[in-house]
Amino acid sequence: MPRLAAKRRSEIPSFASRFGQQLLGWFDRNKRDLPWRRNRDPYRVWLSEIMLQQTRVAAVVEHYNRFLVRFPTVQALAAAPLSSVVAAWSGLGYYRRAQRLHAAARQVVHRRRGRLPRTLAELEALPGIGRYSAAAIASIAFGEAVAAVDGNVERVVQRVLGRAVCGNRLWRVAADLLSPSRPGDFNQAMMELGATLCLPREPKCRLCPVEGMCRTRGELKPSPPARRQARKEVDYALDCRQGSIFLVRRAREMTLMPGMWELPEIPRDRSIEPSFTLRHSITSTDYLVRVARLALPGEAKGCWIKASRAGKLPLTGLARKILCRAKLI
Ligand code: ADE
Repeated sequence: MPRLAAKRRSEIPSFASRFGQQLLGWFDRNKRDLPWRRNRDPYRVWLSEIMLQQTRVAAVVEHYNRFLVRFPTVQALAAAPLSSVVAAWSGLGYYRRAQRLHAAARQVVHRRRGRLPRTLAELEALPGIGRYSAAAIASIAFGEAVAAVDGNVERVVQRVLGRAVCGNRLWRVAADLLSPSRPGDFNQAMMELGATLCLPREPKCRLCPVEGMCRTRGELKPSPPARRQARKEVDYALDCRQGSIFLVRRAREMTLMPGMWELPEIPRDRSIEPSFTLRHSITSTDYLVRVARLALPGEAKGCWIKASRAGKLPLTGLARKILCRAKLI
C-alpha cells in the first residue's frame, strides 16, 4: 500500500488549485468568441461537442450556426427526416455523427420529454456520445465536476507532468487538476490552451499562463514523423442536361457515408480530358479528383436530379465541392 500511495502522489500535481486559477484567469481574458460559448443551453452544447469530434473549431463554426437555424431545438431535430439532417451535415464529414445525433434526439424527445440527461453516466448511454463528449457536455452544460480529455488536453497534461501518461491514468491526472468550482470553463480552458498555445510543434510557452508549473516548457521530445497522407486519384463524370444532374446514391449498408448522393465514378480514361480537377483531403488520403463533363451511356445506374434540388440532398462533401465548383449549386 505505501508504494501505491507514493506512486500516486508523485503523479498528481500538488499545485492543482494554483494551476486552475491561472488557467481560468487566462481563459477569461483570452477565450475565443465561439457561438457555443454564448450560453449553456444543453442542446447547443451537445451539438457543438458532436460537431467538434475529430473536426477543427474553424471548420465547425459556420456549420454549427447554419444547423441551428435549420434545427433550433431538439424537438425540431427529432421531427426532421434523417435525410435532411444528413444534408445539413454535408461538408463536415464523419456522417455517422449526424445519424447518431438524430437517433439520440429522437430518444431524448420520445423518452425524456425533450430533456437531455444531466449526468456523465446517462449522457454516455445516448448514441454518439462517448466518454469525452459526455464529460464535456456534463461539465459545460450542467456543471458536473468531471474532466474531459481530448487530444489537446492529453498533450497539455503530458507536458505539464513531463511524461507520457495515457488511458485511465491520464483521465485521473486531468481529474486531479480540474477546478471543481468551474469544471466546464476549466475543460474548455485546457482545450483552448492546447489549441492556441500548447501546440504540438513550437508551443508558445512564453505566453502560457501555467508555464511556471510545467515540467516540459517547450523542451519537446522528438515527435514521431508526421504520417504521410496516401495519395489517390479518382475520376467522376458530370453529366448535366436540361437543368438536371445525373447522381448516384450510395448504398444504405455502406460503412462510409451510407445513403448519400455523389457523382458517378468512372474508370480512368486518358483520352478523356477532365473539365477541371480539384484536391480533396480526408483523414488519411489526399485525393486528386478529375471531373469530366460528358454524356453517360443510357444504362448508367443513377438518377436525374434537378439542379435546383440537388443542393438540398444529403450530398457527400466531395460531391458538394464538385457541384459548387461547376456552379451548379
Ligand atoms: N473542442 C471540443 N470541445 C470544444 C469546446 N467546447 N471549445 C473549443 N474547442 C473544443
